[in-house]
Amino acid sequence: DWTMGAYRDEAIRMIREQVGDAKVICGLSGGVDSSVAAVLIHEAIGDQLTCVFVDHGLLRLGEAEEVVTMFRDHYNIPLIHADESELFLGELEGVSDPETKRKTIGRLFIDVFQKYADQIEGAKFLAQGTLYPDVIESVSFSGGPSVTIKSHHNVGGLPEKMGLKLVEPLRELFKDEVRALGRELGLPQSFIGRHPFPGPGLAIRCPGEITRDKLDILRKADAVYIDQIRKHGLYDDIWQAFVAILPVRTVGVMGDGRTYDYACALRAVTSVDGMTADYYPFTHEFLGETATRIINEVNGINRVTYDITSKPPGTIEWE
Ligand code: XMP
Repeated sequence: DWTMGAYRDEAIRMIREQVGDAKVICGLSGGVDSSVAAVLIHEAIGDQLTCVFVDHGLLRLGEAEEVVTMFRDHYNIPLIHADESELFLGELEGVSDPETKRKTIGRLFIDVFQKYADQIEGAKFLAQGTLYPDVIESVSFSGGPSVTIKSHHNVGGLPEKMGLKLVEPLRELFKDEVRALGRELGLPQSFIGRHPFPGPGLAIRCPGEITRDKLDILRKADAVYIDQIRKHGLYDDIWQAFVAILPVRTVGVMGDGRTYDYACALRAVTSVDGMTADYYPFTHEFLGETATRIINEVNGINRVTYDITSKPPGTIEWE
């Protein structure tokens, strides 16, 4: 893509000009935006960039390993893998209110990020994968989940608190342009085409109290569900798909025995920007096969439901 090639060269020139020989910290979430920003900045300034990946213990199966392998081993980008799952899960113990969950995670995220950033001597800049829609939305929204999205996603308030200046090389781009730039930078399609994943992670897909036990079950069920979607060639037609584990156990029967396990809900939606969404019209055959696989392969779930709520009135996430 000639246009993106030119954009990339210009962006690299501007990053070099802005940063000089100072050090830059970039928070990696595993999502497309921060990944593209990190690779672009690394092309511009090499090892003056250090990435910090905060693992809050609320990631999907294999996700932390994927991120670490790709950035540290494949791209050779200096990366701190901050495994803080004990801290996050400890503080979330007994918390079931959705807003309290979000606030707890947001607060810890900032503390943890700052702790690791303090270890990087001479850091003067904080890099963020802010997109053009984020720039507009952060001004126009006042209430509802969007505020939380932006304040968490963009680690709001952190740069000032840490005395860091912002580097935001994606500020003029829309999502599809970021994907094109990612391709230009050689990021694998499997990474570029990934469904969005919320900052609070699996916490908001586990209504009620979060326990390690439930998170483990949720991770396994989600992996089977996504595998089904990929196998049927549906992944790219869907904006977002995930499993939510419900805070209720129900009775079932398996073999000669009675089971008493968790129920889960499958969610899949189509959307252009996440602001509105329609539930995805899976075939009954697909749903039946997926339910059977989840119940057979995931210990701890004996009932599968499909969420057919569109947004509005539902939200995409369960909390
Ligand atoms: P809702 O549930 O509000 O989600 O319909 C809309 C889109 O935003 C994502 N989302 C978040 N992303 N931090 C994020 O980075 C958050 O706190 C957050 N909450 C929701 C959600 O996954 C969907 O794509």
